[in-house]
Amino acid sequence: MKIEDLFSVKDQVAVVTGAASGLGLAFTEALSENGATVVMMDRDTAALEAESARLLSLGWRVEGVPLDVTDRPGMDRAFDGVMARHGKIDTVFANAGIDPGPGYVAPDRSHRPPENALENYEDARWDKVIDINLNGVFTTLKAAARHMKVHQRGQIVITTSIAAIAVEGGIGMAYMAAKAGAAHLMRCAALELARYNIRVNAIAPGMFVTNIGGGWMRDPQAQAAMGRHVPLGRVAHPDELKGLALFLASQASSYATGAQFVIDGAQSIGTAD
Ligand SMILES: NC(=O)c1ccc[n+]([C@@H]2O[C@H](COP(=O)([O-])OP(=O)(O)OC[C@H]3O[C@@H](n4cnc5c(N)ncnc54)[C@H](O)[C@@H]3O)[C@@H](O)[C@H]2O)c1
Repeated sequence: MKIEDLFSVKDQVAVVTGAASGLGLAFTEALSENGATVVMMDRDTAALEAESARLLSLGWRVEGVPLDVTDRPGMDRAFDGVMARHGKIDTVFANAGIDPGPGYVAPDRSHRPPENALENYEDARWDKVIDINLNGVFTTLKAAARHMKVHQRGQIVITTSIAAIAVEGGIGMAYMAAKAGAAHLMRCAALELARYNIRVNAIAPGMFVTNIGGGWMRDPQAQAAMGRHVPLGRVAHPDELKGLALFLASQASSYATGAQFVIDGAQSIGTAD
């Protein structure tokens, strides 16, 4: 078999949540450029319209479906719609997520902002992050499993984070708890769905320049500062996840399930010189 056939996603039907920006947009591009039909789901309707129109103009097959992943009945309707229009769902990226701001240590590590201390951490902030970054993944997984079980095949990929692996004072505790929960949810689903030939894996990115957290990482000074914590010496571009996305969405990864794939320039394993 030729290597390009092994990684083929041609004629797949894929769903990507949080598809209008950043990593979800990169997953969408990787699949649609290579012949898949990608249903882009996002709550940002303006960005969804703009990005889906841009990809359509390139001749790629995409559809934009406005959806907030915290809307459980809306999620079921959206997935039912995909099935009604396309008759199958091969691959789902449960990717939508937010960053609620820093943890108990300020980003420059100069002090501890009192409002981020455990005893002051706002309940509403906790609830919002858990609702999107953990409950949203659960809801997406449920909808994916319901349809994939009918065809006894499929691939699900969850975007976690290196925050699921190591605790870091500069990141909000709700974000870390949600990502660690999503990683374990991935493992639970992988075990349960293995007998139906449905594979469930996670991508755990390090620092990628996207619009997350209001887009603070687009600032070159912030990039340089963050890059100093990474053994590879820099933050990453979302395109650098496209190869892994194709691997996990295709038969190239046919024996991979229940695994979390870390792409972080070695940030999570230690500090270099
Ligand atoms: N950028 C990084 O360095 C990084 C690192 C680790 C993990 N991640 C994870 O990657 C995923 C994507 O983030 P990104 O960096 O591409 O950010 P981004 O802000 O560029 O893109 C996120 C997209 O998700 C959408 N979204 C947010 N909440 C939603 C909701 N409730 N329903 C539907 N859509 C929603 C946004 O509108 C946006 O289009 C997130 O789960 C994030 O936690 C990012």
